[in-house]
Amino acid sequence: MVIKMKNEYESEKKISDSYFEFQAVMGMTKHMGGVKATEELAESCHIDKDRYVLDIGCGLGKTACHLAKKYGCRVTGVDISEKMVEQARKRAEKAGLEDKVEFRIGDAQDLPFEESSFDAVIGESVLAFVEDKPRALKEFIRVTKTEGYIGFNECTWIRKPPARLIQYISDVLGAVFLTPNGWQEIWEKPGLKDIIVRTYKVRILEQWGNEIRELDFKEYSGAWYGFFSLLFKSPECRKWARKTLSMPWNIFALLKYFGYGIYIGRK
Ligand SMILES: C[S@@+](CC[C@H](N)C(=O)[O-])C[C@H]1O[C@@H](n2cnc3c(N)ncnc32)[C@H](O)[C@@H]1O
Repeated sequence: MVIKMKNEYESEKKISDSYFEFQAVMGMTKHMGGVKATEELAESCHIDKDRYVLDIGCGLGKTACHLAKKYGCRVTGVDISEKMVEQARKRAEKAGLEDKVEFRIGDAQDLPFEESSFDAVIGESVLAFVEDKPRALKEFIRVTKTEGYIGFNECTWIRKPPARLIQYISDVLGAVFLTPNGWQEIWEKPGLKDIIVRTYKVRILEQWGNEIRELDFKEYSGAWYGFFSLLFKSPECRKWARKTLSMPWNIFALLKYFGYGIYIGRK
């Protein structure tokens, strides 16, 4: 489902494009569960120094750099946003990881890689934003070696949400979250084996704590500076922020429904 911005915004632009543009300017992308969830994903996909990993929707390249540093693996990150990829390259350069980590611009639904290139294909909080999820899965399988792993951390409805909450998420993020069964079906349909599904609640204070800890203070304050500068300069950003804040519940009520899941399968 492509959700186009209404006339009040730029026409022909997806809502998620603006959301990611803001994040790229702020220098901050996120997924639920932080580094702990990244490591759970890496370990479930048996990532070690001999593996070659593809990180789909790599954002600003944090996970790609973390995996290369912690596990010694080679990582390619791919993201549809040029701005994200630019910043991810700078991060790898700054960390001295250019020999292990590289970044490419590309769409999860049409990957610019040969078949059977990677030992593991992973992604964090990306498929929810991808229009044709089964097609993307097919692509992940195509570029994974036989017996390789496909593992994702995705936003998940842990309890049936009210229709207006689903609408709100699609209005402000352009995202479609699924239930654990919904994600599992997407993993099972193309014939992946050894499927693992684990779901978690989001503990918001812990999540915020992780976000602050995982960025250094300069990065974190820079992100908020970037956000407020954008609010000041960009009418589009102001409209998006107003819409986001118009949430009809308080954030703690939302957390009854909202969680994340780790979904693993083997080719
Ligand atoms: C919520 S951010 C998560 C970024 C990163 N994985 C993280 O955990 O911080 C989602 C990312 O997916 C990228 N993305 C969205 N749709 C995509 C697609 N079709 N193909 C590749 N990347 C995509 C966005 O540009 C954005 O960087």
